Amino acid sequence: MRTQLYINGEWRDSENGAEFTVWNPTSGSELASVASGTSGDATAAVDAAASAQIGWAAEPPRVRSEILRHCWKNLLDHTDELADLIVSEHGKPRVDAAGEVAYAAEFFRWNAEETVRIHGTIGVSPSGGNKMIVHHPPVGVVVMVTPWNFPAAMITRKVAPALGAGNGVVIKPPKYAPLTALRVAELLSEAGVPDGLVNVVPSQNASTVFDAAIAHKATRMVSFTGSTEVGKILLRGCADRVLKVAMELGGNAPFVVFGDADVDAAVEGAMIAKMRHSAETCTAANRFLVESSVVDAFTGKLAEAMSAVKVGNGFDPEVTCGPMIDESAVESIDQLVSAAVDGGAEVVIGGSPIEGPGYFYEPTVLTGVNANADIVHHEIFGPVAPIIPFDDLDAMIEQANDTEMGLTGYVYTSDLAKGLAVSERIQAGMIGLNRGAVSDPAAPFGGMKQSGLGREGAQEGILEFCETQYIATDW
Ligand code: SIN
Repeated sequence: MRTQLYINGEWRDSENGAEFTVWNPTSGSELASVASGTSGDATAAVDAAASAQIGWAAEPPRVRSEILRHCWKNLLDHTDELADLIVSEHGKPRVDAAGEVAYAAEFFRWNAEETVRIHGTIGVSPSGGNKMIVHHPPVGVVVMVTPWNFPAAMITRKVAPALGAGNGVVIKPPKYAPLTALRVAELLSEAGVPDGLVNVVPSQNASTVFDAAIAHKATRMVSFTGSTEVGKILLRGCADRVLKVAMELGGNAPFVVFGDADVDAAVEGAMIAKMRHSAETCTAANRFLVESSVVDAFTGKLAEAMSAVKVGNGFDPEVTCGPMIDESAVESIDQLVSAAVDGGAEVVIGGSPIEGPGYFYEPTVLTGVNANADIVHHEIFGPVAPIIPFDDLDAMIEQANDTEMGLTGYVYTSDLAKGLAVSERIQAGMIGLNRGAVSDPAAPFGGMKQSGLGREGAQEGILEFCETQYIATDW
């Protein structure tokens, strides 16, 4: 297990020798003590990325592409080891952790294929006097702040396109789950990524590391995945240096079930949309808007499926939902549930924290939830499904859009034309139409409104890490 900082291809203690504890959320006990980076460490990491980036950007795209492909293979070859690390520090079921490694690795394969296709354009201005050459050089050094819910995939979704485009990177991994990040960096180095290009600076003082990294004159971009609240703080910091930003922020996804939907398929999709990776995804279905004619059938079947969820230690092959990340996560879920119940919601199943050790919450289904309840307007990030019946299509759409968030939405209907029309009216960057999962390295992942800026994955994802330069010429 790597527990030091990874800077310029070397393992180092932090400048002042400080460390912090990483906890195992399943047992509540100490998992590791990890070096806690300082502002000096952050500066050293940006220095390293800046000098490595120059040679890397000058490499032919084919060379960068081949190295990215080796990264894909090397991550996959270490699936067992990485999955074990993910379960240890995040707690998700082992099968989900292995799925995350495949997802994480795929970002390298996809971007290896895109690296040789970062094309520009050439055009003639309407006046005829100017030939306009447009091309896409790399941004330079990118600072990445990544979340704990996908300790591997949220790193590779940023690092793979950034490297493909010719950038150097400094990663500030989450304090809850830095071990996977450190091992991923080592595996990338084994796969041929040059020293200094990828640096990892865990820290218990995230803002100290972030502030120093963005103050460095070589830093040109920040890519963040996390809450909208933190994203706004980072954006303010970036404003002072007018840094390019990519922000994957919070969600509050409506999951709409029409009366003509196949209820079994809707429940199957709902379980994926709600419970994937222990219900701790920003794409998670946060509120279920169900047409009155099927609300009883849907509620009954969803409650049955939620009762079959086995909560516990992710290393137990029977377990399908692991712990929440810490005690305060459990408390905040419980507060939302209690407030909804005080406001008139009925608990169909669950509704309480599970006694420790570890930080667990019962899979919960609530009905009769008031449309104004906090649980409808806050990201739950836990295994709770609030159900709200609807009768009127326009009122339902208004309700679905009554949020500052706009990451994901889900629609279930057997009428494809209606499904597409409703999808278009939901203000979200991604819609699952008769599907409970939207994530795909080949698709543009990202949100509207306060759910973010920019896209990750797809061609859009690699262009985020590029500048656009236009050369005016004639001949
Ligand atoms: C996230 O929760 O931040 C990402 C979810 C995903 O990629 O599926």
